[in-house]
Amino acid sequence: MNRYEIDQIVREIDIHGQPPGTEPDRQYFFMAKVRAHVRELTKSLGRKPTCCVTTFGCQMNARDSEKLVGILLQAGYDITEDEHADFVIFNTCTVRENANQRLYGRLGTLKNRKKKNPYMKIALCGCMMQEPSVIEKLKESYGFVDLVFGTHNIYKFAELLNAVFENQSMVIDIWEDTDKIVEDLPSERKYPFKTGINIMFGCNNFCSYCIVPYVRGRERSRKPEDIIREIESAVAEGVVEIMLLGQNVNSYGKNLEEPMTFAQLLQEIEKIDGLKRIRFMTSHPKDLSEELIQVMKHSKKICRHLHLPLQSGSTRILQAMNRRYTKEQYLALAKRIKQEIPDISLTTDIIVGFPGETMADVEETIDVIKQVEYDNAFTFIYSPRTGTPAAVMPDQVPPEVVKEGFDKVLKAVQDMAKQQVKRFQGQNAMVLVEEINEQDPALLTGRMSNNTLVHFPGDPSLIGSLVNVKLEDCYGFYYMGHQVP
Ligand code: 5AD
Ligand code: SF4
Repeated sequence: MNRYEIDQIVREIDIHGQPPGTEPDRQYFFMAKVRAHVRELTKSLGRKPTCCVTTFGCQMNARDSEKLVGILLQAGYDITEDEHADFVIFNTCTVRENANQRLYGRLGTLKNRKKKNPYMKIALCGCMMQEPSVIEKLKESYGFVDLVFGTHNIYKFAELLNAVFENQSMVIDIWEDTDKIVEDLPSERKYPFKTGINIMFGCNNFCSYCIVPYVRGRERSRKPEDIIREIESAVAEGVVEIMLLGQNVNSYGKNLEEPMTFAQLLQEIEKIDGLKRIRFMTSHPKDLSEELIQVMKHSKKICRHLHLPLQSGSTRILQAMNRRYTKEQYLALAKRIKQEIPDISLTTDIIVGFPGETMADVEETIDVIKQVEYDNAFTFIYSPRTGTPAAVMPDQVPPEVVKEGFDKVLKAVQDMAKQQVKRFQGQNAMVLVEEINEQDPALLTGRMSNNTLVHFPGDPSLIGSLVNVKLEDCYGFYYMGHQVP
């Protein structure tokens, strides 16, 4: 359902009645109630209240934030990127500890702003809120926060917002898990021409370092018909590229009433007229099927990019990480993919400093980087997360040893990326134009099918369209080029 259709429903609701028991009707009812509160607030302020949603972390969070913004727009807020807004929401990430520290710092700044603006409200949501120790800390030392909710009940945002207007004290609503997926709620896209589409939520893999299964819950797939309907309506509104989102898209559909594979879902999505490009994130190597490779190979729309997290190149460490593949299995998979789809770009995630990791293990990782020839890799320093098995493993690696390994891996990744990215130099490529270049407004920035960035001179009216660009010069991670017919 689009924004206008939802607006029409919300307009006609009698807010003096009882809230409906079923979703999404219940949330429409609370959107109508919040609208009334926002109208009052507008009178007090003498202008429309503003709201800022700041997103930390991954694409999944970015998509969740679009859902929050959709509801805030229905409620009557003006959206801004300025954290001096009347309502500030932090959608948090907790995958690594430094993300948590950054949040507490930002909250300190907000506290001072709130003292100056008596109408100001602060909300926190996302993965970090699923950690009981965080909630304790917020209750104890951050009492000025108005609303705290987690990852499982984000669909209830309108209802929670209403509670904030009707309560003086901090509203906290955290669920441990859910099997619920609520459809037909509003969402506002950051870009008119591309969007993320959730196909599944949660993760069942329990990699031993990872907090995600604890904060995002068990794996649940959306029904294919709901996914297709959402994409069709996005395409009708001008979207040409979608990114299918899931913690482990390769296990999509296993728990549906009528099971379906990810490759089958992709084939259905491919049929949608007007949709030009399909991306997806993230693939677990252990579940990547030959069926998927064949569907990608024959697809006209699936982008020539696969993000295939390696984490470590050492079989011993992979085992301790509970990744359920060996170095050799990963290498064989990467080889098979490149053999079938030669122009594909592979990218990856790597963790350095996992408990027990030695320099010999780091060398194994570097060996994989050299053999697989990644176009890009995100390299992370291992961060112990409370509650995960790895956090209590013996042999935590001393920081100076981690640093040495990290620098080596980073150099290997950068050298490889430089060499790989430039292999298309001199060729023409279709580029989806995304924005005006941040440094030089005479240039546009777009993305190739394989996700490489390209900058070229052009008119901003091209934003959102696919254009053919000659890839003239490669500068490490990106190209400079010129549009060609
Ligand atoms: N420490 C460091 N990196 C981590 N990741 C997940 N958990 C941790 C952790 N505890 C990385 C993995 C994953 C990416 C999203 O974040 O590489 O693929
Ligand atoms: Fe974390 Fe592993 Fe699940 Fe990815 S697959 S979210 S790394 S547990």
